[in-house]
Amino acid sequence: MLNIQSIPVITIDGPGGSGKGTVGLLLAKKLGWHFLDSGALYRILALEALTQGIPLTDEGALERLAGTVNMDILLLDQRITDNIRSEACGNAASKIAIFPRVRAMLLERQRALCRPPGLVADGRDMGTVVFPHAILKIFLEASVEERAKRRYRQLKDANQNVTLQGLLEEIRARDVRDRGRVIAPLKPAEDAVVVDTTGLGIEAVFERVMQEVEHCLY
Ligand code: C5P
Repeated sequence: MLNIQSIPVITIDGPGGSGKGTVGLLLAKKLGWHFLDSGALYRILALEALTQGIPLTDEGALERLAGTVNMDILLLDQRITDNIRSEACGNAASKIAIFPRVRAMLLERQRALCRPPGLVADGRDMGTVVFPHAILKIFLEASVEERAKRRYRQLKDANQNVTLQGLLEEIRARDVRDRGRVIAPLKPAEDAVVVDTTGLGIEAVFERVMQEVEHCLY
């Protein structure tokens, strides 16, 4: 059996709108490694719960759903992939993400995606809980105002009906939930490199991250 400890992992954690998804995907492409968007797993689960009428407060039912829902297949469906990107779905995801039994169920499913030649994993607890053996842990930060502006542009580009003020409030509420939850809260791992991306474009952030990667890999 493959020992996942022997497969190199780079984790990129941070709050919503910090740029971790874009940078993580660019990095995975550059290295020719796999990419895990762990937020998508929580979003898919939340969407499935909403569709099936499962209350976002029912930990037992959500745990069972987490064990059965076929996330790979759902990810291949463009329509569902679009649906999970809404703010409503992100908020629902952060509500179910507070439950220990749901997180425990998703833990092994995430580790199972660690395959050769390597994995770039993006999320909230990739460096602290899911892949503590990662060879490099990046934590991206940015002011809440800047993150709201980035999300606003992204969602407007995707033709979603949002306001900047509404997004600011939703991102603040989501930050409080993600940073304040008892299990796997959003925080940098002790050995993470923290990068403040406020005022930086995506190229500059990627360059900064690549410096750390080169230092670590070569
Ligand atoms: O990153 P994204 O915005 O897609 O994540 C949606 C929500 O899923 C987050 O607000 C967070 O509550 C939850 N999440 C998590 N742990 C992860 C990834 C996402 O709790 N590793």
